[in-house]
Amino acid sequence: MRVLHVCTELFPLLKTGGLADVLGALPDAQIAEGLDVRIILPAFPEIRKGIPQCTRVAEVDTFAGRVLLRYGNYRGKGIYLIDIPSLYDCHGSPYHDKSLRPWPDNHRRFALLGWMACEIACGLDSYWRPDIVHAHDWHAGLACAYLAARGRPVRSVFTVHNLAYQGLFAAHHLSELQLPASFFQMHGLEFYGQISFLKAGLFYADHITTVSPTYAREITQAAFSYGMEGLLQTRSDEGCLTGILNGVDENIWDPATDKLILAHYHQDNLSAKVPNKAHLQAMMGLQVTDNALIFAVVSRLTEQKGLDLILEVLTPLLSLGGQLVVLGAGEHALQEKFLAAAAARPGQISVQIGYHEIFSHRIIAGADVILLPSRFEPCGLTQLYSLKYGVLPLVRRTGGLADTVVDSTLENLADDSACGFVFDEYCPRALEQAIRRAFVLWRRKKQWHRVQHHAMELDFGWHTAAQRYRSLYYHLL
Ligand code: ADP
Ligand code: GLC
Repeated sequence: MRVLHVCTELFPLLKTGGLADVLGALPDAQIAEGLDVRIILPAFPEIRKGIPQCTRVAEVDTFAGRVLLRYGNYRGKGIYLIDIPSLYDCHGSPYHDKSLRPWPDNHRRFALLGWMACEIACGLDSYWRPDIVHAHDWHAGLACAYLAARGRPVRSVFTVHNLAYQGLFAAHHLSELQLPASFFQMHGLEFYGQISFLKAGLFYADHITTVSPTYAREITQAAFSYGMEGLLQTRSDEGCLTGILNGVDENIWDPATDKLILAHYHQDNLSAKVPNKAHLQAMMGLQVTDNALIFAVVSRLTEQKGLDLILEVLTPLLSLGGQLVVLGAGEHALQEKFLAAAAARPGQISVQIGYHEIFSHRIIAGADVILLPSRFEPCGLTQLYSLKYGVLPLVRRTGGLADTVVDSTLENLADDSACGFVFDEYCPRALEQAIRRAFVLWRRKKQWHRVQHHAMELDFGWHTAAQRYRSLYYHLL
């Protein structure tokens, strides 16, 4: 079984969020399951630099100009690179400039990704042709539409990592992107008068998956669906919408082997975790003490993540004896608010703006609680990483957070199923109550350690997801 993943990010070469982590790990788990897996990506500078040894597969004329398709190997994975410098030669985010303005030719840049995936499915590489095209998020959504336009030569799967990003473009681009005029309708890729790359994936894919079972249910409701609930409800009723939970790449995230942290540990020697806490406090300019409960945030700073709630509970969090560490980048207003909070409470709150892989590991190894009060969360990977590191996630009950974190209620503590703290209502009071519960458990050291121990034992390895995707592919064939 040959599978072609179509995507824009690949850990560690190019990452803006969890999508990169998924594409960095799922293909390996699928290869271990016996699948023949390749990935196609635009040759963004970071990707090109990371995969310098490539051979030429083909050169083709497309609506975006003459394209060179190259093929190389990266850490055991076969990668197709779409090489056209006039389109992809931009450093930084693949999606927008430094002021978060989308690149002006995004419609062409990401349509070409879908187009080239479809070309490979139609035999562009005479040595390898996929049975399944697996497209990820709106950037790859047109792959499903182009395949449909060509008579569906292979089956397609479209995975929604985040429905909030839709890829909407003016209708006049339709002919430029060589999409059939008949596709521009409600039962197609049209969305309120625009072309929606996301809807193209949702409508034309043979099957839709999303990255947790709860999010798969949530997106059929108006509150989560950004206007797609009708289509998603229909596809769900047809049996074409499934939730498959993401996993943890244990080569990267394992406190027993992680090269980026100060002290290694595992669930049976939790005392070895302690130096990581002092190291984190010192590194972030916090008061170095074991008597503070460290709450941490490692996140994109966007509305999705619910971080405005945290800003509203700083007083109780600190007065109960907490410290707060934030590592994040994103919306300017949120950055400024967190920086101001840190300036007002030195030694208690520390904020690092930017994207730092090393810090993210050190924070997750040194903190006690990771905060994820998300408004919605398709899966969420940070809570999975923190569970593995014995850092208890405090999350809002939504999407993948609801599927992975079991609240420390009395019943769950009694049967040893608790692994974190969960609250429901999106309001500061509910978050504050959960924070108070975290303090209560933390003062009962024995119970806290039991919960940590259980959290670290949980298995969120990628093998489970790889098996589920394999069953789905076979079902589609
Ligand atoms: P999302 O994809 O919505 O951002 P996920 O939880 O799925 O959320 O994945 C986020 C990934 O990005 C995790 O690997 C997390 O550690 C990482 N991350 C987020 N913000 C930062 C940052 N500022 N520095 C380093 N890593 C970050
Ligand atoms: C998205 C989601 C996140 C998910 C990630 C990987 O960015 O916001 O919840 O974990 O994709 O699937």
